[in-house]
Formats: sequence, structure tokens, C-alpha cells
Amino acid sequence: MESSIGMATRIRTLAALAVFKGFSTLPNRNPMSDTIESLSTENRVFSPPSNFAATARVQSLEDYKKLYAESIADPESYWAERASELTWQKPWETVLEWKKPDAKWFVGGQLNVSENCLDRHVAAGNGDKVAILFEGEPGDKRAVTYSQLLADTCKFANALKARGIKPGDRVIIYMPMVPEAAVAMLACARIGAVHSVVFGGFSAQSISDRLEDSEAVAVVTADGGWRRGKVVELKASVDEALEENTTVKNVFVLKRTENEVTMRNGRDHWWHEEIEGASEECPALAFDSEHPLFILYTSGSTGKPKGILHTSGGYLTGAYTTYRYIFDYKDNDVFWCTADVGWITGHSYVVYGPMANGATQVFYEGAPNQPDFGRFWQIVEDYKVSVFYTAPTAIRAFIKAGDSFPEGRDLSSLRLLGSVGEPINPEAWMWYHTKIGGERCPIVDTWWQTETGAILISPLPGATPLKPGTATLPFFGIDAAIVDETGKEVAANEGGKLVIRKPWPSMLRGIYRDEARFKETYWDEYWDQGFYLAGDGARRDEDGNFWIVGRLDDVLNVSGHRLGTAEVESALVAHPAVAEAAVVGKPHEIKGQGIVAFVTLKTESNACDALSAELRNHVGTQIGAIAKPDEIRFAAGLPKTRSGKIMRRLLKEICASGTVSGDTTTLEDFNVVAALQQTSED
Ligand code: PRX
Repeated sequence: MESSIGMATRIRTLAALAVFKGFSTLPNRNPMSDTIESLSTENRVFSPPSNFAATARVQSLEDYKKLYAESIADPESYWAERASELTWQKPWETVLEWKKPDAKWFVGGQLNVSENCLDRHVAAGNGDKVAILFEGEPGDKRAVTYSQLLADTCKFANALKARGIKPGDRVIIYMPMVPEAAVAMLACARIGAVHSVVFGGFSAQSISDRLEDSEAVAVVTADGGWRRGKVVELKASVDEALEENTTVKNVFVLKRTENEVTMRNGRDHWWHEEIEGASEECPALAFDSEHPLFILYTSGSTGKPKGILHTSGGYLTGAYTTYRYIFDYKDNDVFWCTADVGWITGHSYVVYGPMANGATQVFYEGAPNQPDFGRFWQIVEDYKVSVFYTAPTAIRAFIKAGDSFPEGRDLSSLRLLGSVGEPINPEAWMWYHTKIGGERCPIVDTWWQTETGAILISPLPGATPLKPGTATLPFFGIDAAIVDETGKEVAANEGGKLVIRKPWPSMLRGIYRDEARFKETYWDEYWDQGFYLAGDGARRDEDGNFWIVGRLDDVLNVSGHRLGTAEVESALVAHPAVAEAAVVGKPHEIKGQGIVAFVTLKTESNACDALSAELRNHVGTQIGAIAKPDEIRFAAGLPKTRSGKIMRRLLKEICASGTVSGDTTTLEDFNVVAALQQTSED
């Protein structure tokens, strides 16, 4: 029998989980009935099909359990074995040096990441194998072999060197999803420059913040990229971002759309001119295992995005190994991860993981609904995609668009599906399983983060029984647990905090130029135990499966991408009409979470629809379209504690139910809440 405390926690956790799972059909239903429904859906179990398991890298749950136990008993040996499958120019002396909170992997070892992704496949006789099957949004197609990709990378690396870019220099990449985006990343890796890719949907202001924080010396961009039939003017945003910048000396511009752009003499160079005559050979110099590979900015609960730093040997080992086992890599696979290279998924499972394995993959430039919602399925059919990896937000958009799109296509080439970015609600899981997977493809629901570098919790498709909605079990060498405030592991089905108790090779090495924030965000809470705090709430069921409930901090997950409430708030407050703003998440049918902004104005009487639209656009220009609030609610005041902290919990309640039932004893002025409740009834 469960204790009554345990039961209460369980109900709370499940109710919270139900909020995530239940939003797609009836956003306002009673939380208790959701709880019951969540419990019933959890009973569905899908075992790996025997024909899939028969050829899989790990073929049964017993094998997984045995290998996992071995890997956890001695993670260093496990990871050292995996790392030794890569090409090292100098072997390491120490597998792991762990001085809280700093981990160093494969210390003393030297490698070149781009050599591992390119040269070694060519050297092994696979130069003619296709690396990238590119399809532009307008329909242009290109196949790039590993030999070609190596030659292109060397040429561009030589172009970077010729402009004085050195090991350790930071280079911002702001590109459409074209093969040259991967070339730019690999070229940086080849010469030891540190890339920082900025998602092409982010605004000039976002680029400018990242340029400033990283003190980048160069930018790689394009005249534009195609998105929903229009040109996204990337170069124009770069120009704006560079207006007050003093560190960037060179801008490389790829011609993609023939869109007219301004080129500043001496600073801006056309990519095609730079590589003209450049040598197709560029030595893959050896860099230390801990040499920085990239910085990727992601949102935290406070302030500006933080630059998550990843290094070379450990990161590559993580991306390489997880791709191989979780996507059950086979030589003849055609892999397609729909993520943009601007996100961590695009780093680990478009560029480094698949390429370190020598995989063939699809690159698609544009939107899923261009010209209509059949585009992805047309691509799967045309290129005979065998492994497909996307996000729940996309799946929900497809469900909404209607079944006729996938039904008109031959999807029989698919053998495995994947999901990433947020908990996948069982309804979306079932649709993915039946309509896309033809009930024959396992689904790997992969839990990980920008910080973790690679997938940490996921099914192994030939081994793990699947339950819709859970990322299931930890990967080899990953000591994941759910713990209480004291760091003690909680009982089955009790909610708690997700932590990783031992270092792993692809873990972040820091927040760029902010050691204190690194320590405070991920390590301070369980400092004595040395646990990494993921920031997610979760529970494990009686079979050990991890059910992720959602973020414990003020981080929103919009369409599988992280946004800090503080980030959106500071964008709003930067508008001259706004006095104060508080942002909360609200269940959203497609995006998972939508954004509601409560705004107080300097002049209350200015509140109107036009201002609301203006504020939404303002956030779009400050951060990017992804951060635009779905709803702006003007308010006379915001609920605060006596010490002046905004009580977002109450605002969330007001959004969800229109009223406040929780504890309001710390509230400074209840009238503010009364007024907000009144407004939501109107
Ligand atoms: O809350 C978790 C959620 O996304 C967060 C990480 O976001 P980001 O660094 O942007 O990386 C997204 C792509 C790896 C996590 O803290 N998350 C990611 N994958 C899952 C998930 N939540 C539940 N299930 C997942 N499979």
C-alpha cells in the first residue's frame, strides 16, 4: 500500500502530467478526470516488433538491462570503449577528471571533429556515399557525397583561415537549412574556431546579443533563405545586428535566393568568391579533447540567454554513440531529423551524430506546410526516408491539418520514428504510431537538453517496451534519478526532480563567461551529492520509466523550444508604453505551451487592440517570431508578494481557470487579483 503522502504526491504529479497530456483536445477539462484518463492511457504497452528487434543493435530488454548495469558500474570504461571507435590523433591519458562542477573527458587526447565526420569515411572507401540529400523549399534538389562535403568544408575552412580566423575565435552562423550551414560548422571545427549557430528565425536584436556575449570575430550568413514561399532576409538582420558591433571583422555571405543585399566593402565577402581557387585540402589539425567546439545560446529562467559551452572529444562521443544506438544506425538508412541547425537537435542529430557515423540524411530548407501539409510526407516518399525524427508540436500540427496528407503517400520506407523537445501527449503518440508509422515502427521519445549535448533518456527501439508519453529508460552510462529535496531517490510514481548523478561525456562544460551562473543553475542545489540538476520535474513508474512532467523553473517550452519568461518580459518592458509585464505559459493545442503576457501600461487608457498587436510585433523584433505572446492582457496591476516578487503562480491559475484558489497569504494586495479575475470573466 502506498502511504497517503505518497498517494497525494502521485495525484499531484499525475494531475500536472495530465495538463501536458490532455491539452490537445479539451483544454479546460476537470483535472481529476484527466488524471484518471492519464492512468488508463499509461497501460498501453507496445513491445518492439520481433522483425525490428532481430536486426537491432540491442535486441531485448534483458540485453539492455545487462549492458546498462555494466555501464553504470563503470561508466568511464563504457565511454572509453565508445570513444575509441572514433579517430584520435593522440590517445587520451585520463578518461575523466571530475572536479565539481567541472568535468574533463579524455584528457590528454587530441582529435579533429571534422576529420571524424568526413575524412575517415572517405578514407574507409565511402567517399561516394551520399551525406546530404538536400531539398530547398522551392523544390531545388542536390545530393552531396562525403567526398564533396569534405572538399567543400576544406575550401571554406581555407577561406576562413585566409581572413585570419584562428583556433578559439568565435564565429556566428546565421544560415538557412542548406548544406552550407553544415559546411560552415564543420569548417569551424576543422580549424578549431568555435561556432555559435543562431536560429534563422531569431531577430537582429538576438544576433546582436549573441555577438556581444561571444565577442565573435566573424559571421557566416546568406542573402536569404526560403520560408513559406518568401525570402527570409538574413543578411539584412545581420547588418542591423552589426550596426554597433566592434568585434566582427568579416562577414561571409552565401548566395541562396538572389535576394538583393548590401555588401559593406572590406567586411562582407561573397562565399562563392572566397572559395574560388581555395584548396580542397586543409589539414585536420589535432585539437585537445577539451578544446571548445561550440557555444549554443538557450533560455534560462532569468535574464538573457546563456551560452552553453560544449567541447570536442566528449561531445562527439555522446552524439556519435546515441545516434548509433537510439536510431539503430544501419549503413543503408536514410535519416531525416527535421530540426534546424540553430537548435541543439540540429547540432547533435543533423550534423555531428549522423556525420560521425557516416549516415545519409535529408536536409529540407523550408516549412512543413509549404505548399501544404503534405510536404514532409512527399519528402519521406521521394527519398525513401527510413528513420524520421521530429517534434510533438509538428505532429500536432499534422493532426490538425488532417489525415488526407499522409494517407496519400507511400510511407512504407519508414522503419523507426523519433520525438524530441517536450513530452509527447499520448494522443499525438498514437497518431504518429498509426498514421505515420503504419503501426510497425517503434517510436523513440528522446529526452535531453541543450546542456546534455546528447540524448540521455530514450527507448532503444529493438529492446524497450514503449508506453505513449514516456521517454522510458536512461541510456548506457547515464545515471538518471528522481530525487526529493534532500537528494534521496523517491519511490516509484512519486514526483521529484530529475537529476543525473554521474558526469557523462557530452555534458556542458560551462556557461560561456559565467562560471557563477553555471554553478548556481545546475549544481548548487545538490552540491554535496554532485548531482546535475536538469530543471525538469518527473516521476518513474513501477517499470522504471521516466515520465517528464515539465519545467520546474520559469522556462516555457513553446513548440519544443525553450523561452525564459524573463526574456519575453524584458522585451515587453523595453517598449515605451509598458510599465511592467509578467509572462506565463498556458496549454496550447499545437505549440504545447502558448504565451500569455500580463501587461501594465504607463498610461492605462492607452490599452487597445492596436497596442496589443504592436506589443506582439515588438517582442517578435526583440527576440523572434517564436516568442510573440499569443495573448496580451492589459491589467491595472500585477499580483506581488510583499517583497515585490510577481506571483506568476496566481497568473497561471487565472489563465487556466479564471480564478485563484491557491494560497494568497503572501499577496501584497488582493484587490489586484480580484481585478484580474474580474477581467477574465468579462
Ligand atoms: O523540459 C525538457 C524538454 O525540453 C527541455 C530542453 O530544451 P532544449 O534545451 O531546448 O532542448 C530541446 C531538444 C533536446 C527539457 O528540459 N524536453 C526535451 N525533450 C523532451 C522533453 N520533455 C519531455 N520529453 C522529451 N522527450
